[in-house]
Amino acid sequence: MARVNDHYLELKSSYLFSDIARRIEAFAAANPGARLIRLGIGDVTRPLPPVVIRALHDAADELGRAETFKGYGPETGYAFLAEQIAAHDYAARGIKMAPDEIFISDGAKSDSANIQEIFAPDCVVALTDPVYPVYVDSNVMAGRAGKANQTGRYDRLVYLPCTEANGFNPALPDRPVDLIYLCYPNNPTGAVMSRERLTEWVEYARRHQAVILYDAAYEAYVRDPEVPRSVFEIEGAREVAIEFKSFSKTAGFTGTRCAFAVVPKELKGRSAAGDSVSIHSLWFRRQSTKFNGVPYVIQKAAAAVYTPDGQKQVRESIDFYMDNARIIKDGLTSIGLTVYGGENAPYLWAKTPGGLDSWQFFDKLLNEAHVVGTPGAGFGPSGEGYLRLTAFGHRPDTVEAIERIKTRLKL
Ligand code: MLT
Repeated sequence: MARVNDHYLELKSSYLFSDIARRIEAFAAANPGARLIRLGIGDVTRPLPPVVIRALHDAADELGRAETFKGYGPETGYAFLAEQIAAHDYAARGIKMAPDEIFISDGAKSDSANIQEIFAPDCVVALTDPVYPVYVDSNVMAGRAGKANQTGRYDRLVYLPCTEANGFNPALPDRPVDLIYLCYPNNPTGAVMSRERLTEWVEYARRHQAVILYDAAYEAYVRDPEVPRSVFEIEGAREVAIEFKSFSKTAGFTGTRCAFAVVPKELKGRSAAGDSVSIHSLWFRRQSTKFNGVPYVIQKAAAAVYTPDGQKQVRESIDFYMDNARIIKDGLTSIGLTVYGGENAPYLWAKTPGGLDSWQFFDKLLNEAHVVGTPGAGFGPSGEGYLRLTAFGHRPDTVEAIERIKTRLKL
């Protein structure tokens, strides 16, 4: 019998969103008449922008003609897309980024899960608590996290609590760490990190020769011009950071799948022998071995996002979701709940009322209002006492969810 990877046995029994899906299924089976409104998983609801649909059709037609047919593409993505990303996401904001430092992929989820593979098993990993569960689980699978204790924390991970008291911005680690996962605008708390604070993190990483794994999947939701939208806006970050970005939450690609990781050539790690090693080369090697690239039609669709019409249509969607965020925040605040986030991020982080824990409030919302949220405790122990709602719903659903919460919730 083949031995399994024992590290998988250290994982919590299931992925958070699968767990929630099962509870919802059970509720729906027991309450067939109830119309559920789902503001739980951060999945978009608006259709793809018209320029993206046009590009998909055109690219599909190209594949149907012998003279424009494409087989395998470059593993790290087509230059036509990487060049647009370098120009719009970086050069336009005064950041130097070469197209070949951009690795096109099928998702920030897979990139942020896979990146740990190129680092040593004994690297010390620091991550925020609460946190996007993928960062934790991918390190558990790799054997880098150790054993979970009763509070659900793994003994080899360094947790950086993000609480109301610190404005959901963690303190610097109190011991040396090698890899630091940061996600801002934050999933799940909806908090942002100031330029000053991010500068402190970059300086910390430089001092300790650590690598920051910066998940900027929600940067398009930043409205405050003072808030950084990329870690590379910070001087010195090219030597210490990798950034993940995605078309999912920006242009509605959660089902279409296109994202990218940015790995500057200056970023170095070290081998067991103490030699300096290019992280860019290792990631290139990893991707070219295990990944065959994002489909041509999808990359063409992503490139269309950077046309003037594409930019306008994407902006409209983001504004739409941010109006949802305002509706949710105003509604919940009006019934006396304390709500964070939702101003530079599509997530709202509501404090549970009346001493309820996260899962109790999740159940209450489900049973009394037939609204689905995500229990904060599912993102880590410091998420206890919170519930996350997303602004990605349909407008009528969002309005109705808030109306139901206001009128049906027995607080
Ligand atoms: C979430 O709800 O946290 C998101 O759907 C995460 C993701 O993009 O995978």
